[in-house]
Amino acid sequence: MDFPRYRPRRLRRNEKIRAMVRQTSLAPKNLIYPLFVGPGKNKAQPVSSMPGVAQLSVDRAVEESQEAASLGIPAVILFGLPEHKDALGSEAYDDGAVVQQAIRAIKEKLPELLVITDVCLCEYTDHGHCGVIKNGDVDNDSTLELLVKESLSHARAGADIIAPSDMMDGRVGAIRKALDENGFAQTAIMAYAAKYASGFYGPFREAAESTPQFGDRRSYQMDPANSDEALREVEMDIREGADMVMVKPAMAYLDIVYRVKQKFGYPVAAYNVSGEYSMIKAAGQNGWIDEERIMMEVLFAIRRAGADMILTYFAKDAARVLAKG
Ligand code: PBG
Repeated sequence: MDFPRYRPRRLRRNEKIRAMVRQTSLAPKNLIYPLFVGPGKNKAQPVSSMPGVAQLSVDRAVEESQEAASLGIPAVILFGLPEHKDALGSEAYDDGAVVQQAIRAIKEKLPELLVITDVCLCEYTDHGHCGVIKNGDVDNDSTLELLVKESLSHARAGADIIAPSDMMDGRVGAIRKALDENGFAQTAIMAYAAKYASGFYGPFREAAESTPQFGDRRSYQMDPANSDEALREVEMDIREGADMVMVKPAMAYLDIVYRVKQKFGYPVAAYNVSGEYSMIKAAGQNGWIDEERIMMEVLFAIRRAGADMILTYFAKDAARVLAKG
């Protein structure tokens, strides 16, 4: 169609007509709200690099979950802050530990809210890596056993969805097999399938107290320069039994979100990570950008690229904006 017969501006004349032709939708049901759960009672310790985010005791995590649910958010994802850390991250697979308590408490109060659990060891190990250290690197196959124990412990506590974020090879298959053999055939797996070794996780590591004590995560998380490899990672996870696949981070990786959705047509989650959140918050607090507007623009962009679900610290803020209409 050529000008002047076709005038694209006709469909932009007012909000009614723009809304009628708007292609991408964003609703609270697309959002997943991350929570950091630690020991204690009635505690909410603010995370300085993530304004609006706090480390919560179990009772406060239940309150936050209730608020999220009342805003129409269907799911929370839980990260645990153990009482003590050791080389094998034993609190990760302790049925009495804080995440397991939080799962039970949330499911008891809000049975309809979906509880997703991040399965990884970095929050629980004293060295801060995502697995068992052998010869100065994370050993893949012995880590799998611990991830399986952690997943089963979360499932026993009542988690609806297990989300392994460690990036070990073969972990989705190992977890699926163990869940099936232990009566958890209905527990779903959301695999952090294409997870990059990213600087955007910086503020999270303050929140989860999970900074590696030596080296970095490049021997298990993906090289930001690669994209075909992301498709192989996703394909493996799907073949091993992932029900949903995740791309992480989101904003700088929308090409990956797009390709994964196009190629596999599976439910795709994108993680709008801590650094992406903090940049927008900081610039907003400085008055350099309109925080609310940019938050919505970014979330729409992630949906436009093909994400069905977005894990985001903005979940409650965005749901409030959506409720205003
Ligand atoms: C655990 C994990 C991380 C994040 C989610 N799960 C940190 C990491 O891999 O270092 C990051 C989330 C965020 O930055 O918001 N492995």
